[in-house]
Amino acid sequence: RVLDDRPKPLAGKKAIVTSGPTYEPIDPVRYIANRSSGKQGHAIAVALAELGANVTLISGPVAIDDPQQVATIHVERAEEMLDAVLSHLPADIAVMVAAVADWRTTTSVDQKIKKQSMNQPMALQLTENPDILKIVGHHANRPNIVIGFAAETQDIEKNGRLKLERKGADIIVANDVSTASGVMGGDRNRVKIISRTGTDIWPDLDKHEVARNLAALIAEKIS
Ligand code: CTP
Ligand code: CA
Repeated sequence: RVLDDRPKPLAGKKAIVTSGPTYEPIDPVRYIANRSSGKQGHAIAVALAELGANVTLISGPVAIDDPQQVATIHVERAEEMLDAVLSHLPADIAVMVAAVADWRTTTSVDQKIKKQSMNQPMALQLTENPDILKIVGHHANRPNIVIGFAAETQDIEKNGRLKLERKGADIIVANDVSTASGVMGGDRNRVKIISRTGTDIWPDLDKHEVARNLAALIAEKIS
């Protein structure tokens, strides 16, 4: 866009957005990850920038390009994503869209693990990753607006509201990620906006439209 004279309600505001999956290495050639294209998180970063925010996008490994209007930081593991997020506080807005792997391996990853012989079950010892949203939601330098997503396959509103409370978020954007929904990797999303004041159900929208609506909602709340 050469000429962009739209209002900039988020001018002077600093935003952090996480996007994509994290990769937790098992060994040099294998990893644990959630499914995530990064489309929704990247679109939110762009939508916030279009409203004038100074956006840092912290992304796990994705196949899509870095957006032009934002500063993108590439990370791999959840602990790296957490460090990058914390190093960008204080901020006014945090939107945690990344599909962070819930676990990482406890074992050393220096050498490729060879297959064991004959029908031996393979065991991996896992430990829980830090919950980046929860840490940001309870941080001394907590941003004014903290937003998380909730990827659910059932009881979407109930589970989303539990996450709102547990993680200290202002809004949880809950979506149905069951295989039938087509959300994973797809271009559309049907979300529920869960806040302290209630739940708003948005229609099936393109991920860019979800991003623009969410950025507008953030602008409304921050002013
Ligand atoms: N999240 C995070 N760090 C983690 C796990 C999740 O920041 N280690 C964030 C996600 O970016 C998202 C929100 O928390 O904004 C909810 O993620 P989700 O996977 O739905 O929730 P979990 O708390 O991990 O619960 P579960 O996967 O068991 O449903
Ligand atoms: Ca999770």
